[in-house]
Amino acid sequence: MKKILFICFSLLLSGAVLAQDAKMEAFVSDLMSKMTLEEKIGQLNLVTFGEIQTGAVVSSGVDAKIRKGQVGGLFGSSSFKDIKGAQTLAVTNSRLKIPLLFGLDVIHGLKTTFPVPLGLASSWDLELIEKTARAAAAEASAVGVNWTFSPMVDIARDPRWGRIAEGNGEDPYLGSLIAGAMVKGYQGKDLAAPNTILACVKHYALYGAAEAGRDYNTVDMSRVQMHEFYLPPYRAAVEAGVATVMSSFNEVDGIPATGSHYLMTDLLRSTWGFKGFVVTDYTAINEMTMHGAGNLQEVSAKALKAGIDQDMVGEGFLTTLEKSLKEGKVSLSDIETACRRILEAKYKLGLFEDPFRYLDEKREKSEILSPENRKLAREAGARSMVLLKNEKQLLPLKKSGTIALVGPLADNLKDPMGTWFVAGDWNSAVTVRKGFENVLGNSVRVNYALGANISEDPMLLAQLDLTHTYVKKNPADLIAEAVDAAKKSDVVVAVLGESEAMSGEAASRSDIGIPENQKDLLKALVNTGKPVVLVLMNGRPLTLTWEAEHVPAILEAWAPGIEAGHAVADVLFGDYNPSGKITATFPRNVGQIPLYYNHKNTGRPYDGNLKDKYKSKYLDVVNEPLYPFGYGLSYTTFEYSDLKLSTSAPKGLTSVTASVTVKNTGKFAGGETVQLYISDPVASVNQPVKKLKGFEKIFLKPGESKEVRFTITPEQLKFIHSDLSWDWEGGEFVIHAGTNSAEVKSAVLNWEK
Ligand code: NOJ
Repeated sequence: MKKILFICFSLLLSGAVLAQDAKMEAFVSDLMSKMTLEEKIGQLNLVTFGEIQTGAVVSSGVDAKIRKGQVGGLFGSSSFKDIKGAQTLAVTNSRLKIPLLFGLDVIHGLKTTFPVPLGLASSWDLELIEKTARAAAAEASAVGVNWTFSPMVDIARDPRWGRIAEGNGEDPYLGSLIAGAMVKGYQGKDLAAPNTILACVKHYALYGAAEAGRDYNTVDMSRVQMHEFYLPPYRAAVEAGVATVMSSFNEVDGIPATGSHYLMTDLLRSTWGFKGFVVTDYTAINEMTMHGAGNLQEVSAKALKAGIDQDMVGEGFLTTLEKSLKEGKVSLSDIETACRRILEAKYKLGLFEDPFRYLDEKREKSEILSPENRKLAREAGARSMVLLKNEKQLLPLKKSGTIALVGPLADNLKDPMGTWFVAGDWNSAVTVRKGFENVLGNSVRVNYALGANISEDPMLLAQLDLTHTYVKKNPADLIAEAVDAAKKSDVVVAVLGESEAMSGEAASRSDIGIPENQKDLLKALVNTGKPVVLVLMNGRPLTLTWEAEHVPAILEAWAPGIEAGHAVADVLFGDYNPSGKITATFPRNVGQIPLYYNHKNTGRPYDGNLKDKYKSKYLDVVNEPLYPFGYGLSYTTFEYSDLKLSTSAPKGLTSVTASVTVKNTGKFAGGETVQLYISDPVASVNQPVKKLKGFEKIFLKPGESKEVRFTITPEQLKFIHSDLSWDWEGGEFVIHAGTNSAEVKSAVLNWEK
């Protein structure tokens, strides 16, 4: 009976969807029948409000273009007034009154800034991540933004690449789940609701694999590699219903992604079933010329033919498509298909019913920076943090005595907001110093000193604006002041790392250590003999070999966002027991990069015997990372035991339950992310040493234990074959469960297909 009811309900639902689609199709067809060619091409044009954004080209004559119907959307503003002005112009002064889309890089919050994505990913908390995206959409939509250029789901194995901060790390399984959660958060169940917005998965595809970690650099990889490791998160976003996709700057298979028919049509639409529209990245069509793909007219035609619908900033479509149509290089149906997809997005948002539905002064006042959103930011900040080291239980700190609080990020409003805080209200951010004050009141005496600027490197200072914190003083004097503060205190908290501009777009670094002058400060602090807690704020894995050896406690706080100070204080003083786990490997030095947990074995794996010369290793550093994927400590300890399989010889399409017992063996209640990995030692395509295939977050009181169960099905055993099909092969598998990718309990099973 239940089944019949379910089938009836599904049929009714799909009937309703079909009817809605038909209504939309009729509406758009009717509108398009009234549009001139110029107006149709106009929809394919996305411009800025006339300011420089993330490239050298600036949009000009925007008002006049809107009047002429030459603009489909604008991006780059969170100003209610400007968005309302532009929408008013479009719906009153253009011939057909077609409303505009308003895009913005709402990457980790609008005004309420949450941790940078790499930080949020470290929470392994999909519900939390979805909530942050939901809050971001609610704030953005209140000021008229109806489209965010997020989630960024590029898999990255190279921490030199500054944009690793904007993504979720190195793992496709976790990355896919996060992609889905974010799309759901932004788009909700109904795009026409006034507080949901279009999401845009980016940068399709493989942008995170830029050679040498240098932004915008060439990408080259095998199809097997891309399908197994890099493409799944984009696909997951499509499966979650993402409304738009952004093409990437890099080339794939020697063809600029923006001009790749394989990516934009064969894979995205024909295989994955994507129904929305594709926008380019900033001037990506024009940049195809520099890649060597032809002049602007040629590359614009190639991009349209490949499956691109909207041209961001470059105006290649606007200025050349008419000519290409006349010359037969593109067809009317190519143009109309793209135009239709953009109009459909506007229809789904409900803009034709009410072009101002995303501008809501009342909601702007009540929802932006609301106490609930700030509370969520504080919680997200704390949950993102990863405890990397805690010798002799130095942490949590007592809420008494005297603390020296030092470092360029300790009393800094802006940098803890992280890259892409766009409209983030950094003046209302909470610094660590303020957070200490608010959480500790008068119970602790805090001796503050700057101790060091973010950097003294002239090359870096020539490129980045650090004037908001830079103090013109002799570095040695700054250090002396901090040492003085340390000597007068029981314990030192040093908040060091990167400025917000040191990671993110166009922020690659070849040395990913703490900047030299800050390291000098840290060494001087350690030399005082006082216990030092290092709190790191940064947007990428750093090389911390010296720190890991000499500093007793290290907390990776990432860029925690607007509530940085409260979140750091909550963790340092034990109001929140850290439970984050890194999602990108921390190498020992830059020479080890690329370094990632799901690597292949070699024919000569190194087994720890240095005398064994002809093995895959280095002469000067071990192969293992400093901190492996999935690593993160807690103030308590967890013991894993009894990994059991429901059967070790399954047959066919069945499932196996793997269970492992986890016990809280320490003194604090705490959360743990229990991770499941699978190895496939013999396969027709060589498999990585292990792959993440499941995880569960649990919470245990001291002394408490829990049996965590994972269901394993053949689905989790599938891999990409040489013909690009996903399938599994019977044989031996090793199931691992543990606290990170390197510390696991393992059990073997033989699965007959
Ligand atoms: C360039 C960046 O690569 C992309 O991520 C961003 O969305 C656009 N600029 C728009 O700002």
